[in-house]
Amino acid sequence: MRLVKAAALVSSAALLLAGAPAPPTAGPLCGPSDVRLRPSADLYCLELIPRPDVPQTRAMLELGRAESPYDVAVTAAGNQRYDATLDLAADLPPPETLGPYSAYVAWVAPPSLDPMINLGEVKAGRTHLGEIAYDKFLVFVTAERSATVGAWGGKLVLRGMSPSVRMQQHSLLILNRSGGDSMAGMRHDEHGGHVVGGEARWSMPPVRPGAPMMPMPGVDGLTPSVRPYLPGAGIDPASLPIARPRELVRLRNGDTLGLTAALVRRTINGRALVMYAYNGQYPGPLIQVDQGATIVVRFTNAIDQPTAVHWHGIRLENRSDGAPGVTQDPVEPGGKFLYRIHFRDAGIYWYHPHLREDVQQDLGLYGNLLVRPGRPDAFGPVNREEFLMLDDLLLGDEGLVPFGSDRTTHALMGRFGNVLLVNGETSYRLATRPGDVVRFYLTNVSNTRTFNLAFTGATMKLVGADVGRYEREVWTDHVPIAPAQRYIVDVRFPGAGSYAIMNQVQAIDHNVGSFYPEFDTLGVVTAKGPAASPNLAGAFEALRVNRDVVTDIARYRPWFTKPPDKQLLLTLQLGDLPFGVMQMLRRDAMYSHPVEWSGTMPMMDWLPTAREARWVLRDPETGSENMDIRWRFRLGDIVKIRIGNDRSSLHPMSHPIHLHGQRFLVLAHNDVPSSDLVWKDTVLIPVGGTADLLVEMSNPGKWMMHCHIAEHLETGMMAVFEVR
Ligand code: C2O
Ligand code: CU
Repeated sequence: MRLVKAAALVSSAALLLAGAPAPPTAGPLCGPSDVRLRPSADLYCLELIPRPDVPQTRAMLELGRAESPYDVAVTAAGNQRYDATLDLAADLPPPETLGPYSAYVAWVAPPSLDPMINLGEVKAGRTHLGEIAYDKFLVFVTAERSATVGAWGGKLVLRGMSPSVRMQQHSLLILNRSGGDSMAGMRHDEHGGHVVGGEARWSMPPVRPGAPMMPMPGVDGLTPSVRPYLPGAGIDPASLPIARPRELVRLRNGDTLGLTAALVRRTINGRALVMYAYNGQYPGPLIQVDQGATIVVRFTNAIDQPTAVHWHGIRLENRSDGAPGVTQDPVEPGGKFLYRIHFRDAGIYWYHPHLREDVQQDLGLYGNLLVRPGRPDAFGPVNREEFLMLDDLLLGDEGLVPFGSDRTTHALMGRFGNVLLVNGETSYRLATRPGDVVRFYLTNVSNTRTFNLAFTGATMKLVGADVGRYEREVWTDHVPIAPAQRYIVDVRFPGAGSYAIMNQVQAIDHNVGSFYPEFDTLGVVTAKGPAASPNLAGAFEALRVNRDVVTDIARYRPWFTKPPDKQLLLTLQLGDLPFGVMQMLRRDAMYSHPVEWSGTMPMMDWLPTAREARWVLRDPETGSENMDIRWRFRLGDIVKIRIGNDRSSLHPMSHPIHLHGQRFLVLAHNDVPSSDLVWKDTVLIPVGGTADLLVEMSNPGKWMMHCHIAEHLETGMMAVFEVR
């Protein structure tokens, strides 16, 4: 009976995003609703099971979104945070009828059952329990003598477990080939290494030091179904210039900048690499302009692939947006293009190619662009400013793991690197003074990795995101930042000493089906010498309310509560993959974590190419997908778009969705309204989650909207909308 119930819950939950009726329980997250795209009940609604010898009753634990200024609610250590509410059926008998008890109490514990935390008294109806910040947990309801007992001593009534407990152990994988064997286009490859300067050969992606080893029956020895590619075939690396760190370029209204993408030489972790660079610099030049300025960029393509430069997040003229096939033709090798860029909004932006981003951006084509606000007092005072571009790179023993020549590899999870980079360096260092307040402009330029950044021992304040400042500054101890997103934080280093810049996430060990902390040091800030001058401690202590931002956003509030004008489902179609890979995907389908924080299955991530996997944006109203969607809006429209990330596909994953040419507010995640708003251009939608965007259609033209995981974009996860 219990098994049947649980199975029914799983299957109805899987269908939820596809428009099936919701299970008949009360409550906003898990109850009935006529909204089509809903948060996945499979991940966020946890049914508690009554003990057989107590009166049968229904209970649902809603794993609501915890308060957070970010798209995903996690702790500084990377644990998922939930705001839990228990919904108990009205037929729950009084606790006195079960024995010498006076109250029902809810408990939460990690799988080790230690500690067992009293979440408080629960009664029939809805009880708000507060935060649960375990990735895996068990929940119990017991009848107790008193609601405040410190330890469980009464009678167990209901129990449940977090969806992550369903995670399967790959070590239990038994390969049964009678289910049909498909080697698809994968080839067994004799050669392990690869050649720089000559023809590229496949080399297997390395396993991260410390990451679990994954036996992959039926998969070992296969290579992707595309030819390997590395830049600079036939070129003597010694003839290429050595890339140098980026320079600051200050431009005034009317100025022109020459920008050339070319091959360079770099050495990372002792490996000599042929990479790309803008103007020979890593990252590309840091461009600074004033709000309201217009500049011209004379771009030259000196790499061995067609390319184009996209000015991410800027509401510029459509013809300069740099989207090949939509706003311009690709710039062929040796070709040129003239971009005219007007800066309407202050903020931290970036530029990157918009063709084979999986290769070109990964090899170093990215740079920051700071647009200074017109008002000098827009931000609080700081002692200095730093610009961090967060990235990763996949290096094998002999150098870069090759890319796919005509189609991308790593089509499912994206190409996770095994070497983490800040501004293209493996060991970022910053020297500062004790007491300094430093403004960090953070940009994630990696292909797929979402970072969870922390400055150990320092105090941090969140002040801005993609397109400007928050309504209100807030204290924070971490920054979850998805590909293409930006955050602006003010950090105070209170005294002399070293402060580590960390990436702290909870990765999944698929071997045993459990989480483990993956903490990496990205760099070190050393505070020494004389104390900060001026001393900005006082100003730093105050959390500013940005009245101008509040007033600006208030103009859009009348549209906050309207029903969605458009909906978008994020999903996946899979083709012919090797049997071993399919088996593993089926096992993993039992549970998907809201965010894929780390690539812990290098072989499985590597093999699927854009031939075998197609990521999809689907309009559930019309059924059209990707480039067939063709939404049309009028200039000035305020459009609400509801996005849902399909839990039921075979390998769901979090997607950072970016709209070109416009700005939007993220009104809500999983139906929980955002309490502190900021204009953005890229939003991360966790697995099984929903987000409501309010888009100001303020810029005419044909614009792309797409997932910013480079490999997902390469499989076609993009659409064009028109504003006239
Ligand atoms: Cu940075 Cu089309 O995006
Ligand atoms: Cu994606």
